[in-house]
Amino acid sequence: MSLFITFEGIEGSGKSTQILLLAEKLKALNHAVIVTREPGGCPLADQIRHLLLQPDQGPMAPAAELFLYLAARAQHMQEIILPALEKNFIVLCDRFSDATTAYQGFARGIDPTFIGSLNHFATSGHRPDLTLLFELPAEEGLRRSRRRSHHAGTEIDRLERESLDFHRRVREGYLRLAAGEPDRFRTFDATLTVEEISAAVAAAVIPLLS
Ligand code: TMP
Repeated sequence: MSLFITFEGIEGSGKSTQILLLAEKLKALNHAVIVTREPGGCPLADQIRHLLLQPDQGPMAPAAELFLYLAARAQHMQEIILPALEKNFIVLCDRFSDATTAYQGFARGIDPTFIGSLNHFATSGHRPDLTLLFELPAEEGLRRSRRRSHHAGTEIDRLERESLDFHRRVREGYLRLAAGEPDRFRTFDATLTVEEISAAVAAAVIPLLS
């Protein structure tokens, strides 16, 4: 049985850790799982990711940013996600169309309804079966992601450099999306321990597979 699950949240919400933990648990139960991410997930989209995230290229026009995320998504959908779902894989995707609505819509200021139409076009109308939202205050998320970059010796990317207010609007956008589609979204308290969150995620997902 195929299942398309997306992981969403602000920077530092721990979703990338949780996606790997869920993948391990599902594989241990003998499910065929693919872990992927946006922007990226295939060679063309990885190149677009590089364009989007490198910090020192001067200001990017909001429309250019929006269309680059959508271009990456269209390619990723056609090349990776749809073929995997057709082969009955469980696809776990680190960010997807809700990220565009939260970041380019609610935070950047482009009409979320317009973004909805563009997302529909980029995905040929395919939507996640389930979306897991990892929720924490923007201050804490940014602190965590900056600490992580510092420890890894990596540069803070272009989006992480946005203001605290920008990241607060992203968070608010996600909460509004989750409130608008309670059947698709499950929200997790990302201030709990990694183990507690992982157990809650498994409890939300595994019953859907039986
Ligand atoms: P990541 O840090 O989760 O890999 O995501 C890369 C950045 O891109 C992150 O700051 C969120 C942002 N983003 C958008 O602004 N719009 C989108 O559609 C997606 C998928 C990500």
